[in-house]
Amino acid sequence: MVEVRVNAGRQWDRLMAMAKLGAIEGEGVNRACLTPLDREARRLLAGWAAEIGAVVSVDEAANLWLRREGSEPGAAPVVTGSHMDTQPNGGRFDGIYGVIAGLEALAPMDEAGLRTRHPIEVVAWTNEEGGQFAPGCMGSMAWAGVKPITAFAEVRDPADVRFADALAEHLAAEADLPRRALGGRPHAYLEAHIEQGPRLEREGVPIGVVTGIQGSRWFQVTLTGETAHAGTTPLRLRRDAVQDFVRAAGALNSLMSDPDDVLRFTIGRIVVHPNTSNSVADRVEFTIDLRHPNGNVLVARGDLIEATIKSAARNAGVDVRETFHAMPVAFAPEVVAAVARAAKAEGLKALRLPSGAFHDAQFVVPVCPAGMLFVPCRNGVSHNPAEYATPEALGVGTQVLARALAALAGA
Ligand code: HGY
Ligand code: MN
Ligand code: MN
Repeated sequence: MVEVRVNAGRQWDRLMAMAKLGAIEGEGVNRACLTPLDREARRLLAGWAAEIGAVVSVDEAANLWLRREGSEPGAAPVVTGSHMDTQPNGGRFDGIYGVIAGLEALAPMDEAGLRTRHPIEVVAWTNEEGGQFAPGCMGSMAWAGVKPITAFAEVRDPADVRFADALAEHLAAEADLPRRALGGRPHAYLEAHIEQGPRLEREGVPIGVVTGIQGSRWFQVTLTGETAHAGTTPLRLRRDAVQDFVRAAGALNSLMSDPDDVLRFTIGRIVVHPNTSNSVADRVEFTIDLRHPNGNVLVARGDLIEATIKSAARNAGVDVRETFHAMPVAFAPEVVAAVARAAKAEGLKALRLPSGAFHDAQFVVPVCPAGMLFVPCRNGVSHNPAEYATPEALGVGTQVLARALAALAGA
């Protein structure tokens, strides 16, 4: 196969240019989906894509696509990419690395005069994080036919903006970009991502051959009590939503206890109303993020959440809604093998490991052979401004990505 060598310096410069769009203290990034910042980042990406003749298009879920033609007309594309949106207190590499790496894998193919049979497409999925509009993976779920994008229309962000309105505004702002139908059946999918965990760095291994993704379930819980004066209302007469939140959180912690520390249970967002020091709270809204590699455990524990909260609460009304349900997936052996072969061909050690974080790849699995590769990140830290990966590690990951993509696309 023709030698393809990616340019780690160009990739790093592009990642740092993207990191300026939404830069926050501590070298972090806050770039929510469907915002002017997101659109500025997408325009920057589209400009780089145009430099190598990749054709840009957008689907009705605002997933952004960059396409490099193959030699075989009508052949299904090999797709790579990730997401460009970040957590509100996010880092410079989560998601965006996979998009920039996908683009960087294409340029040297042209430089080497490499023609692949299958086209190669780079995708930037809409709203993978779910940090503003919950749940995450809206773009990939809509693309995969898990839910229509209209199913998320009434979801509101913390500023009370409707998802449907943010999407409509975004698509109008990108009306000049060619449209493409939502959905598809690629020949294969391979996503590059930082590990967001400590194993690769700790074991000194540059490439993670990802075997699958654990399952995730998200819940939105609302406790409804009655507001009252903090100074005059006897405790025995109160319907205090905060006190019932404390009881519910304690009961959930017991339900989710796991001596092996495999289960992941997080209450990440708590909103109290009216949120003043001298009024009893009449409402508490909180989120639950539950994860486990075993689907049976995920179902068993998750299905007990509502009853657990209802039996712990004394006075508040309880409403529990599941907003995200992603069962564990195993990646396709042929894609896992392609990553392992590419790492070997580059003379690199590789480690097979599952992903603790969810990714859009999870929803691609039922559509076509899918897989991921990881690169190490410092101390495994992510969803944190301190998230960091070296230019060299990122370059090595993209080199393996390019080699695997060329092999999957029939170079
Ligand atoms: O939450 C996740 O696992 C992903 O990083 N958004
Ligand atoms: Mn991510
Ligand atoms: Mn993330």
